[in-house]
Amino acid sequence: MAKPLHFAAFVMNTNSHIQHGLWRHPNAQQADFNDVNLWVNLAKTLEAGTFDAMFFADVVGLYGPVNGSYEVNAREGLQIPSNDPSVLLSALAVSTEHIGLSFTSSILQSHPFDFARKVSTLDHISNGRIGWNVVTSTLENAARNFGFDRLVEHDERYAWAQEYMDVVYKLWEGSWDDDALIKDKVSGIYADYTKIHKINHKGERYQVEGPHLPSPSPQRTPVIFQAGSSPAGRAFAARNAEAQFILAPNPEIARKGIAETREAVVAAGRQAGDLQFFQGLTFVIGSTEEEAKRNEAEIDEYISTDGFLAHINLGLDQATGTPLDPDMPLKDIKHEGNQSHVQWLRDANPDREPTVRDLAKITAKVRGRVVGTPEQIADNLAEWQEAGVDGINVINWTIPQSYELFIDEVMPVLRNRGLAKNESAPGTLRHKLTGQDQLPAARSHES
Ligand SMILES: Cc1cc2nc3c(=O)[nH]c(=O)nc-3n(C[C@H](O)[C@H](O)[C@H](O)COP(=O)(O)O)c2cc1C
Repeated sequence: MAKPLHFAAFVMNTNSHIQHGLWRHPNAQQADFNDVNLWVNLAKTLEAGTFDAMFFADVVGLYGPVNGSYEVNAREGLQIPSNDPSVLLSALAVSTEHIGLSFTSSILQSHPFDFARKVSTLDHISNGRIGWNVVTSTLENAARNFGFDRLVEHDERYAWAQEYMDVVYKLWEGSWDDDALIKDKVSGIYADYTKIHKINHKGERYQVEGPHLPSPSPQRTPVIFQAGSSPAGRAFAARNAEAQFILAPNPEIARKGIAETREAVVAAGRQAGDLQFFQGLTFVIGSTEEEAKRNEAEIDEYISTDGFLAHINLGLDQATGTPLDPDMPLKDIKHEGNQSHVQWLRDANPDREPTVRDLAKITAKVRGRVVGTPEQIADNLAEWQEAGVDGINVINWTIPQSYELFIDEVMPVLRNRGLAKNESAPGTLRHKLTGQDQLPAARSHES
């Protein structure tokens, strides 16, 4: 019997997250994302369907070049309008019991003192079910929203992210001793100040005195997720992350990337298994292969090429906002943004350097798409698992239907094969993933 995979639902508090154009599908409800009930109901569905986590993506600016038009973004509802996922998580935390609640927050958007306090509060409210996807922001507009003229250079952003981590680790792990909170009405002592420590962080970007204001939450540090796979991104993950989101074009490439990243984890002084890998996949299900192909053709009718190109953030000249020559090789594009995507296209096309023309075509049609009967999908997931993947980040076409179909039609087959759990796991998110509620002592003391 196989070991159960973890399952996360990859969503965003917006209309059009990844599969642009699909919001127009008659069954799609994501256009109503302002309605909290859409998310509460989805969270309950996922929890009943034994998903381990919901994972909210987020950005803090527009896709596209600095002075480019955002007509496409607005027309497509492409990550604008969007709402803050962390605020939504508190509603989901009180409407659910078991499901992990992860969200994305950029080092750009919040001061680490304030961010650490917000996360501890959420971790208390949810009884330890919070995860944080650490991002550095790849959008020029995001940089301008937070007072910069332009994006900080790629590797420098990861150095900044490391200092950010150092500050929040000190607040979450080092500021309060386990027995600092006394809550004794008889003696009249609520907390023992000798066990609550200022952190006195003085670094290149931050000076934070402390102490952390919240008392320790069930996990202290939320489960740390990360999604970059450039050398700097991988080194950052090796040092900090507990789970990495990957979008490998096939299991063989995933196997190679996982092996390399695990080596980096060991080089960073951790155990190879301390970092888990979640592959992003999207499913088109049919009771027969033919029906699955028909469903796929139907989905393709809604796909918006404009939306895909705008999202990739690479198809336009970053200085002028004009479209790039379609035959331009990707290696000639100069950008400080997302480097993983270019690498992904190279890996998917080993015989030649991909061009700008390939960007939209390949991304829209094949990225992470699995089409077939529930049995064929189970075979496919077994291959990913065999390549070293620990979990699947399920990307939707339509909310909530993509998840309802997956839970009703695929999950039972996966359970029969031992590839999915039979019931929701109780406890903290970290406990679901690693069996521990908190970071190992060696890591929590490293800062
Ligand atoms: C599955 C997945 C999810 C991601 N989610 C977000 C997100 O929500 N917000 C964001 O700003 N970047 C997101 N990213 C981008 C990464 O954080 C990172 O910037 C990108 O992969 C490029 O990193 P690299 O240059 O180190 O490879 C995501 C990437 C992947 C693969």
